[in-house]
Amino acid sequence: MVGVAVVGAGYWGPNLVRNVQATSPFQLVWLCDVDLDRARAVLGRYSTVRATDSLAEVLEDPEVQAVAVATPAATHLEVALAALDAGKHVLVEKPLAASYADGLKLVTTAQERGLTLMLDHTFCYTPVVRRLRQLAHDGELGELQYIDSVRINLGLVQPDIDVLWDLAPHDLSILDSILPAGVTPVAVAAHGSDPANVGRTCVAYLSVRLSNGAIAHAHVNWLSPTKIRTMIVGGSQRTAVWNDLDPTQPLAVYDRGVDWPDGAEDRRVSYRIGDMVAPALPGGEALRAVMAEFAGAITERRAPLTDGWSGLRVLAQLEAASASLAAGGTFIPVTNGMAA
Ligand SMILES: NC(=O)c1ccc[n+]([C@@H]2O[C@H](COP(=O)([O-])OP(=O)(O)OC[C@H]3O[C@@H](n4cnc5c(N)ncnc54)[C@H](O)[C@@H]3O)[C@@H](O)[C@H]2O)c1
Repeated sequence: MVGVAVVGAGYWGPNLVRNVQATSPFQLVWLCDVDLDRARAVLGRYSTVRATDSLAEVLEDPEVQAVAVATPAATHLEVALAALDAGKHVLVEKPLAASYADGLKLVTTAQERGLTLMLDHTFCYTPVVRRLRQLAHDGELGELQYIDSVRINLGLVQPDIDVLWDLAPHDLSILDSILPAGVTPVAVAAHGSDPANVGRTCVAYLSVRLSNGAIAHAHVNWLSPTKIRTMIVGGSQRTAVWNDLDPTQPLAVYDRGVDWPDGAEDRRVSYRIGDMVAPALPGGEALRAVMAEFAGAITERRAPLTDGWSGLRVLAQLEAASASLAAGGTFIPVTNGMAA
């Protein structure tokens, strides 16, 4: 058994609680929140899991070997670092920390202490993203030409971060997961606005230039009355179209595109209109797979699929996006997805 404490019982924390409890060999021992009543309410009256508002109490407990952190981004460094310093493995919500420097501190501390540091990049554990990764890595899409993502709805305006830091970690972590070997982000640009005057960017457009010349684009928005969650991964052979709001057929792979005949005398574009295939995908909750990976990484002493470095690459690109916003939208270089 691996004793686990969840820290943070707000919107997302209860999902971690539920999935820790459903995952062998985890045993949920504590739920900690500075708002003790909230932690108690999440556990309910008949739970044997202990509730506390003291992180120190949790970290002093030798029964606790791992900590899952679902507090706001600004507190990730403080909470996750204390857990690592106490010798606990850590699963941290996205984004890893509030800055690249803070994230680096967490990654190096985990490495020095030989502890697992894993990111809850939830989407990377969905059957769709796993299939997209396979399609891109196995070359079935051909050469990657573009990625186009839309992630908009009436979102929860966050008190401490803008819409890029709230929603774009999903797009950047998916990108990090599916990019084929040898294709890396080289520069990031962002444009945004705050038309509702909430004091931070609510609508943003993020462009990531890739090393093969392709571009990945994400549109994130807290103000849209309709919810849209689509991603198109365009390749020279096939194009995958993902609609996350379509439960019956979320992914479609099109053998359609534009061909440009090499060396032909008449160099006119031709359109390839082939089949569309909707892959059969397994069901299951992504967070269950997140927990299984966290448990596997701890017990098998291996790096998890979304390790601290993946969180750091996302942070580097978020910081580049913020720098671009401040500089009027110019491209800010990154190196292999990391700070240049
Ligand atoms: N993976 C996903 O898809 C996903 C979805 C939503 C949120 N998140 C992430 O989860 C984290 C939490 O987001 P949320 O929407 O649940 O926030 P929230 O504000 O609803 O909840 C945060 C909770 O943490 C508690 N808290 C704050 N500081 C604390 C501390 N130092 N120690 C203990 N408890 C503390 C608060 O009292 C609150 O109950 C964020 O990092 C967010 O980005 C991830």
